[in-house]
Amino acid sequence: MSDKFNTLKARTESVLCNTYGRYPMGITKAVGSRLTDLDGREYVDLLAGIAVCNLGHSRPEIARVMAEQAQKLVHVSNLFYQEEQVAYAEELTKWMGLGKAFFCNSGAEANEGAIKLARRYMRTIKKRDAYEIVTLDGSFHGRTLATLTATGQPKVKEYFGPLPEGFVTVPWNDPAALDKAITDKTAAVLVELIQGEGGVRPMSTEYAVAVERICRDKDVLLMVDEIQTGMGRTGNFMAYQHYGLSPDVVTLAKGLANGLPMGAVVATDDAAAGFAPGAHATTFGGGGVITAVALEVLRIMKDEDLVNRARTEGQHFLGRLHDLVDEFPDQLEEARGVGLICGLVFKEPAAWAWQAMLAKGFVLNCTQERVLRFLPPLSTPRADLDAAVEALREILSA
Ligand SMILES: Cc1ncc(COP(=O)(O)O)c(C=O)c1O
Repeated sequence: MSDKFNTLKARTESVLCNTYGRYPMGITKAVGSRLTDLDGREYVDLLAGIAVCNLGHSRPEIARVMAEQAQKLVHVSNLFYQEEQVAYAEELTKWMGLGKAFFCNSGAEANEGAIKLARRYMRTIKKRDAYEIVTLDGSFHGRTLATLTATGQPKVKEYFGPLPEGFVTVPWNDPAALDKAITDKTAAVLVELIQGEGGVRPMSTEYAVAVERICRDKDVLLMVDEIQTGMGRTGNFMAYQHYGLSPDVVTLAKGLANGLPMGAVVATDDAAAGFAPGAHATTFGGGGVITAVALEVLRIMKDEDLVNRARTEGQHFLGRLHDLVDEFPDQLEEARGVGLICGLVFKEPAAWAWQAMLAKGFVLNCTQERVLRFLPPLSTPRADLDAAVEALREILSA
């Protein structure tokens, strides 16, 4: 480690809360699909700030929109009608085929909003005292008290009790368990269709269809957390489109504004009727700069056909990961993913592989101990993906 890095690390540790297991590098620049560290070394970014900078880093078009909007209207509050916010909501709801949006600032806040919407919808529209939210084992929904309670991973809850009431977690891929867990107290089922943090686990179509059928039979809301999988990542604009589902509520964040903090709850007109003036709010949600940028993100996605690109490049990349599994059956269990959310599952803990890839100049992530997770910008050149596969081959052969 260089002196520059050690100094930055020591300063970080002295003034920032110790909440992150950080990578052994300080980043000074992020442009396109490249990151530059403190010592001027370049890396291929296969993480995109954890599925955030889907268009690549520091796009000049976005910088221009941000600068122009910053000189016109930054923040006035949601007490006022604002053109930028409406223009973006019109476009986003059109892309999603849903009726109404609520804008906030993060994924956890979007899920909090969805949970509140489901409870209020049941009580005010359905006239039922239903409040329970059913979630799945292995899921990740955020770090606020409600969303960590909704999360199906014990490690995120440790030491934070007492946890809020009204959450039930059921086993993954078990329709009978879900069916049984839904009672007259259930307001909604909240699922990730591809568990990202949970190790890139795609749901089977049969199970996804069963989840929707059960929600319809029991008359509870189907809420899909697309915070990691939405915005074109899977090769469809939303992952629910792969499964042919019609969710009542969808939560988004990460890729919405290509790096600026934004979250959204998007709902059918019927479900959205659960909110009323004064029922839910957030000071910064949907401000002028963020919504102008988010609209530009959709324009670029359309112009560069990034959703289809994620599908074709994802197929290519996943195919090459499958080849590695065939080549290294002693070390690798499987390759899985949809579009450009891909996981390479090792038979043993894979932290060494993540470190070896970093040493070769590739930034990615290791989740659930044994899964290398790839979330590259949707605009990543194919040559970068192929180079990553070659680097993986080298470290697996070593
Ligand atoms: C599926 C999913 N839901 C919720 C969240 C929480 O989002 P945030 O960190 O913006 O609160 C994440 C973050 O990784 C996520 O992947």
